[in-house]
Amino acid sequence: MRPLRLLILLALLGAGAFWWITRPNPLPADAVAGLTGDARKGEALFWAGGCASCHAARGATGAAQLKLGGGQELATQFGTFVVPNISPDKATGIGGWTLAAFANALTRGLNPAGQHLYPAFPYTSYSHMTLQDVADLKAYIDTLPPVVQADAPHRLMFPFGWRRLIGGWKWLFLRPGWVVPDPLTPEEQRGRYLAEALVHCGECHTPRNLFGAMDSGRWLAGAPNPSGPGHIPNITPAKLDWSADDIATYLTSGLTPAFDSAGGDMAHVIENLGHLTDADRAAIAAYVKKVPPAN
Ligand code: HEC
Ligand code: HEC
Repeated sequence: MRPLRLLILLALLGAGAFWWITRPNPLPADAVAGLTGDARKGEALFWAGGCASCHAARGATGAAQLKLGGGQELATQFGTFVVPNISPDKATGIGGWTLAAFANALTRGLNPAGQHLYPAFPYTSYSHMTLQDVADLKAYIDTLPPVVQADAPHRLMFPFGWRRLIGGWKWLFLRPGWVVPDPLTPEEQRGRYLAEALVHCGECHTPRNLFGAMDSGRWLAGAPNPSGPGHIPNITPAKLDWSADDIATYLTSGLTPAFDSAGGDMAHVIENLGHLTDADRAAIAAYVKKVPPAN
């Protein structure tokens, strides 16, 4: 036996396994073939998905929310992410992207160069969108004003600047299925689609593990506020005893059964939900009642 050769062999096997695990996994080449987007439908998806909350200027209101030039800074335990330009500008935004490239970003967390995107962009949620909805969303974003603004680099701690590592994160934490299992009624399923794929309630309401991944075993069980002091409430039936109607009213008007009004980031979420129909907000409320109780 030659111990040095054995070591080299093990190191090569380890490197090979790492390379295989962290490889990019794009959509099949013909996945979006034949899909045409409907911008009118895409508008509701845009608000439900909260794209402007990150990609427009911080605190933007009214028409300024449609200028998706990026530049907001998101501070995390891994460093600071600077949100990129996704306006239709050809040079500095995503105006030149094909539908396939856009769909790979939203559903696979990949950029057009085939590199992994950071999950600070909530594609762990968007990966559950139907490709027709992705096409509608792109059709809507294509109608928005182009903003000329070059992307600034993220400022991340070593070794998180290396995008290949995100492949390992995805391998551990990116799951294809729904968090809340069937059987659900068609209304609850609609609510699940909106809540888990688009409005990403979990990104705020679910606690995270050491690697920043949501703990699906404690789905919506409350978490520290990612953007400031305070705690985001537990909205599972273990803590929230509101009826489905109470929840739907809150998601529509921001009023709690005790006539308090929603504050913090939730006020902004409710504003976005105002672009959905009453039926869709009722569906989200019905879904919230079906989330497994967790403390
Ligand atoms: C919580 C903040 C946040 C939200 C909400 C968000 N994004 Fe992003 N997005 C980011 C960040 C941060 C990046 C950069 C990721 C990276 O560099 O790996 C990003 C990257 C992207 C990219 C890739 C851009 C590029 O140049 O590589 C696209 C496309 C995109 N987002 C589209 C969207 C759409 C569409 C929505 C709404 C459905 C959305 N984002 C919602 C934070 C967000
Ligand atoms: C951007 C972060 C964020 C997202 C996304 C979010 N929430 Fe919230 N939510 C909050 C915060 C912060 C509060 C506390 C509001 C307050 O203090 O008035 C809250 C409060 C609530 C409450 C009231 C709970 C109580 O006990 O008062 C409900 C119900 C709720 N959210 C449901 C949802 C649902 C359903 C979704 C997804 C459709 C969602 N939230 C998405 C941040 C968020």
